[in-house]
Amino acid sequence: MSSTGQAPVVGLSVPTDADIPLIARWLQSDHVRHYWGDPEENLSLISDPRSSSHRALILAYGQKVGLILWQHPSREELDEAGLNEVPTSVIDIDMMIGDESAAGRGIGSAAIRLVAELALADSAVPYVIAATSTSNTASRKALAKAGFGEAREFDDPICGRCVLMVLQRSGTVLPEGDMS
Ligand SMILES: CC(C)(COP(=O)(O)OP(=O)(O)OC[C@H]1O[C@@H](n2cnc3c(N)ncnc32)[C@H](O)[C@@H]1OP(=O)(O)O)[C@@H](O)C(=O)NCCC(=O)NCCS
Repeated sequence: MSSTGQAPVVGLSVPTDADIPLIARWLQSDHVRHYWGDPEENLSLISDPRSSSHRALILAYGQKVGLILWQHPSREELDEAGLNEVPTSVIDIDMMIGDESAAGRGIGSAAIRLVAELALADSAVPYVIAATSTSNTASRKALAKAGFGEAREFDDPICGRCVLMVLQRSGTVLPEGDMS
């Protein structure tokens, strides 16, 4: 890993079954578990071949250091969190830097930027969202570095008090109270 202070070289690659033990280790590590919750439940969701979410390993200088997931949220999960104004056509991002020694080096924000660009390449996606616990300073800062703005707070039935972070297409502004 570089320590030159320059932006890290970050890429994405499709995980295979051979990566499952590494992802399981990341999910079990304290710094991920603290925000992601139950490692077994998350592993079965991530490794479920029927899942509609996209997944990519985060590579830094060619090394596997984390995982990023993105999907269209369901109407049910948005409404359960009180995010009634958010349409299911948005893309929702979740991420982790599993290798703790790679956290805080600009890798998470670079990976978020890559996935957001991919998502917004689809003209049917109005904007990209990420929900993060209000206490998760690293996540809020990484999303802000990737260009996301804080739209509003809400109560997630599983994660508690969260902040909805939104990345608009460049040049567009969120109309107040209407995010469709
Ligand atoms: C959230 C996460 C993906 C961010 O990735 P990252 O590579 O660490 O992010 P970046 O380095 O691009 O940006 C993080 C910023 O937060 C800062 N930061 C990190 N930990 C912090 C802390 N505990 N308090 C305050 N700031 C913190 C970093 O210094 C950096 O800011 P800077 O560039 O201004 O110095 C990563 O920290 C992680 O995987 N955390 C555990 C799992 C998690 O919380 N996932 C998100 C759930 S929504």
